[in-house]
Amino acid sequence: MANKTAGGVETYEYGVVRAFALMTLVWGIVGMLVGVILAAQLIWPDLTYGVPWLSYGRLRPLHTNAVIFAFGGSALFAASYYAVQRTCGTRLFLPGLARFTFWGWQLIIVLAAITLPLGYTTAKEYAELEWPIDILITVVWVAYAVVFFGTVAKRRVQHIYVANWFFGAYILTIAVLHVVNSLEVPVSWFKSYSIYAGTVDAMVEWWYAHNAVGFFLTAGFLGMMYYFVPKQAGRPVYSYRLSVVHFWALIGIYMWAGPHHLHYSALPDWAQTLGMVFSVMLWAPSWGGMINGIMTLSGAWEKLRTDPILRFMIVALSFYGMSTFEGPMMSVKSVNALSHNTDWTIGHVHSGALGWVAMISIGSIYALIPRLYGRERMHSTSLINVHFWLSTIGVVFYIASMWIAGLMQGLMWRAAGDDGMLTYSFVEALAATHPYYIGRLIGGVIYLSGMLVMAYNVIKTIQLAPATEPEPVALAMPVRAVSAAAAS
Ligand code: HEM
Ligand code: HEM
Repeated sequence: MANKTAGGVETYEYGVVRAFALMTLVWGIVGMLVGVILAAQLIWPDLTYGVPWLSYGRLRPLHTNAVIFAFGGSALFAASYYAVQRTCGTRLFLPGLARFTFWGWQLIIVLAAITLPLGYTTAKEYAELEWPIDILITVVWVAYAVVFFGTVAKRRVQHIYVANWFFGAYILTIAVLHVVNSLEVPVSWFKSYSIYAGTVDAMVEWWYAHNAVGFFLTAGFLGMMYYFVPKQAGRPVYSYRLSVVHFWALIGIYMWAGPHHLHYSALPDWAQTLGMVFSVMLWAPSWGGMINGIMTLSGAWEKLRTDPILRFMIVALSFYGMSTFEGPMMSVKSVNALSHNTDWTIGHVHSGALGWVAMISIGSIYALIPRLYGRERMHSTSLINVHFWLSTIGVVFYIASMWIAGLMQGLMWRAAGDDGMLTYSFVEALAATHPYYIGRLIGGVIYLSGMLVMAYNVIKTIQLAPATEPEPVALAMPVRAVSAAAAS
């Protein structure tokens, strides 16, 4: 990882990208394995013999933190560090600080993996980690921002490619969300209380959590999409104008949609309605991104037949479109009255998480690994194909089971006879859900097995890789060479 080659030529910083790419795989397997255990616990509640640190309540936040921040986060670090160098025609700013973000992020994940099973939690969903870890997250995130924006600042091209706009928005917004939502009063090393109370606390929490979906699980991965889809397809982005319009619309609207998580709660009615209206509006910019990604392939559709990496990406975009149609629909109060607290929400979450987030990450990592290790392609294209089908079948099993279970639960809970008495007891609804929990477990196991196939393929690719020289930074690109930037 020398800074310069022998001839004094500037080279790309790939070491930290490689490290994050490999950890994406490791944390993906760990996080999904915990998901599979949770799915099994919902079928066999005594599965872990009552051991407290293996209980459902402690493993659930471990799963969400591992898949979102460890798996998704590592993928985003890898993709943004790679794309920003290539599209700015320059080496990463402060590579030492970038390596600090790698070790800092891994330390945070390890601390989460220790404290959550031990039961230390703020009890705020997706922000469970206690205050000393929150401070560490802030430090690492600020370092990330310095490296990313520093690289953009020293770019050799005048233009800032659209992927970097999305990465930039995600980095800035997550910093604000994390700091505001985590304001808390520590009472010991392992316990703190939020500075907000009651409904205000709930509102801040869902402003944070919804925008974690909007900026971590959406804007960041759209940045990934805008770099890797044109590159893999060998075509320029379908419409650059659309990318700019949907960028500003997306980041402007997302901020206001959080109250859809608090329908029929103590939150003032006008705020709930505001959240609903903004959520419905969100449909348009979300589909703007999906259409722009999918249409990038126009004129090159035949590539889908031969390139399973591209297939991962296009199916990911289709799931993105599906979950961002479903979300606005679920935010309508009358629909939410049926879907809230049922497994429909879990189906929605995983069509976004397994379908969009995981599949776009998997596709991008497959595209990235050979480039990082100086190989033409991955060790085995047919194994990528096997992985593609395992993922697709797995996610369909998972979400179809949850949709059926969720709708059934919602309808059973509200069914009442002429005398106004409930038709079904809660336990009857639970018993009816049982087969669908088995369906979800099968889907999860299939999806996880695909990740193991990927691990084998990646290890083989790296083992067979030749010893590579650091790659010289490409010469500055023409100012408006947007498509060339994406395809460089
Ligand atoms: C093999 C793959 C996976 C399996 C088997 C799995 C399983 C589960 C289970 C059983 C739950 C708890 C559901 C409940 O409480 O009723 C859950 C929750 C959750 N999972 Fe996964 N999961 C997987 C992958 C992922 C991935 C890749 C992500 C994100 C990128 C993700 C994000 C979440 C989130 C955000 C929740 C909380 C949902 C909520 O509170 O509404 N999962 N998962
Ligand atoms: C236009 C975009 C979207 C809208 C308007 C939207 C809307 C919603 C609504 C109404 C709920 C149910 C709230 C409840 O009843 O408790 C929900 C839950 C959720 N959505 Fe979305 N969604 C969108 C896209 C996505 C995407 C792309 C993902 C993931 C990548 C995602 C992840 C989640 C998660 C994790 C939850 C569960 C939160 C929790 O209760 O813990 N959403 N969403």
